[in-house]
Amino acid sequence: MKFEKIQAPKGVREYLPPESQSFEWVREQLISPAKAAGYQLMELPVFEDTNLFTRGVGESTDVVSKEMYTFEDRGGRSITLRPEGTAGVMRAVIESNLDRGQLPVKVWYSGQFFRAERPQAGRYRQFYQVGIEAIGIDDPALDAEVIAIADRGFKNLGLKNYRLEITSLGDAQSRAAHRVDLLKFISGLQLDEATVSRAAINPLRLFDDKRPEMQEAMAKAPILLDYLSPASAQNFAAVQSYLKEMGIAFTINPRMVRGLDYYTGTTFEFIHPDLGAQSGIGGGGRYDGLMETLGGQALSGIGFGLGVDRALLAAIAESTVPSQEFTSDLFIIPLGDESKGQALTIASSLRASGIRTEIAFGDRALKGAMKAADKSGARYVIVLGESELRDGSVELKRMSDGVTSSVKIAQLQDELQRALAL
Ligand code: HAM
Repeated sequence: MKFEKIQAPKGVREYLPPESQSFEWVREQLISPAKAAGYQLMELPVFEDTNLFTRGVGESTDVVSKEMYTFEDRGGRSITLRPEGTAGVMRAVIESNLDRGQLPVKVWYSGQFFRAERPQAGRYRQFYQVGIEAIGIDDPALDAEVIAIADRGFKNLGLKNYRLEITSLGDAQSRAAHRVDLLKFISGLQLDEATVSRAAINPLRLFDDKRPEMQEAMAKAPILLDYLSPASAQNFAAVQSYLKEMGIAFTINPRMVRGLDYYTGTTFEFIHPDLGAQSGIGGGGRYDGLMETLGGQALSGIGFGLGVDRALLAAIAESTVPSQEFTSDLFIIPLGDESKGQALTIASSLRASGIRTEIAFGDRALKGAMKAADKSGARYVIVLGESELRDGSVELKRMSDGVTSSVKIAQLQDELQRALAL
C-alpha cells in the first residue's frame, strides 16, 4: 500500500534550512533594539477567547469580520487563533495585575499570527511578527522612542529603501469633532449597505476602502489632522520634533488607516516600496482606550508589530542578508563501535567549550564519510579509529588546504581553540 503525501495548509509560511537561518537572523536583528531598551519577553498563547479580538480589535475591521480562525473547542467555548498581539498582551497584563506595578509595563513578543487572507507574495495565513508594547505612560517622548526602536530594527537589517509614515488620530475630543463632519460628508455619498454599516461602526474605515470609486469619493473627505484638539496637536508636534532630533526621517500621511480599531493619537507605518502590494513591513501606534475596553484600568499604551516575513523579503530585495550556511569547526569520523563512544564524548566536551562539532554517523566507509565532512563545510576533520584510540592522538586535517598535524586527543580542545582563534 502506498500512502499519499500530505501538504502544508494553504497560505502558511514555513522556514526550512538554510533559509531558516536568514529568518532567525532577521527576527533577532528586529527585536534586539527592544531588548537593549529594557523591554522584557512575554510568551503568550496563540489562541484566546474570541471576545478578546471582537472587542479589542473591533468588529468593523477586516481582521475581525473576515479573517479570524475561529472554532469551538471541546468545551463549547469560542476560540480564535490570534490575528495580532496587542489584545493578548493587554489581556495578560490585566489578568496578572502587571499594570499595578511599575509603569510603563514594557514587553516584547515574537511568534506566529493567523489571518485568513487571500495568500500572495508577502501575505500569508500564518505569518510572523515581533512586537513591543509600552503600557501606562502617556508621553510623546515614549511614542518617539517606540518608533525609534522599530526604525533601529530595520536599520540593523541594513535596509535603506523603506520609509516611515506617521499621523495622529488625536484624542477622544478630536475624533468626536471630526466624526460629526465625516458622517455628514459620508451621508452625501451613494453607498452600498455593507459600507454604510461599516461606516456606522468606524467611519475612518472608508479611507481604507481600496475601490477606485471610493478612493475618489473620499479624496474630498474631512481629514482628522485638521480637527486635532490643542492638546493632541501639541503632542503630535512634540513626537515629530523628537524624531527630528534623533535624525529619523518621516513623512506625514493624514489618510493612513490602520487595520485595527483600537488606535488613537500617534500612529505609524513602515513601508518598503520593493515589496509590491504587501509593502507594509511594520506598524503601530497608541491605543488609549484598549485596556479599559478589555475590563482593565483606563491606562494608555503604545506599541508596534513588525512583519518578520516581509522584513526578510525586504532584506533579500536589498541584498543585505549575510550568507547563513551552517559550518561546523570540527567533523569527527569514528571507525568502529568503540570509537563512536569516544567520538560522542569528545564532541560533547568540545561543544561545551564553544567548538561546533559534528559526527559522521551510520558506519559509512571512510571515503563516504570524508565526502560528508567536505559537504558539511567543516574547517577541520579527524578520523578516530582503533590505532588513534590506542595512541591517544589523531591527525587534525585542515580542510582549506589539506595540511595535517598530529595532536594528542587530550590537547584537541586547546589546539582547536588556538587554530580557530576562539
Ligand atoms: P498590523 O499592521 O496589522 O499591526 O501588523 C503588523 C505587521 O505584520 C504588518 O506591517 C505586516 O508587516 C505584518 N503582517 C500583517 N498581516 C500579515 C500577513 N497576512 N502576512 C504577512 N505579514 C503580515 C498589528 O498587528 C498590531 N498589533 C501592531 C501593534 C502593536 N500596534 C500597537 N501595538
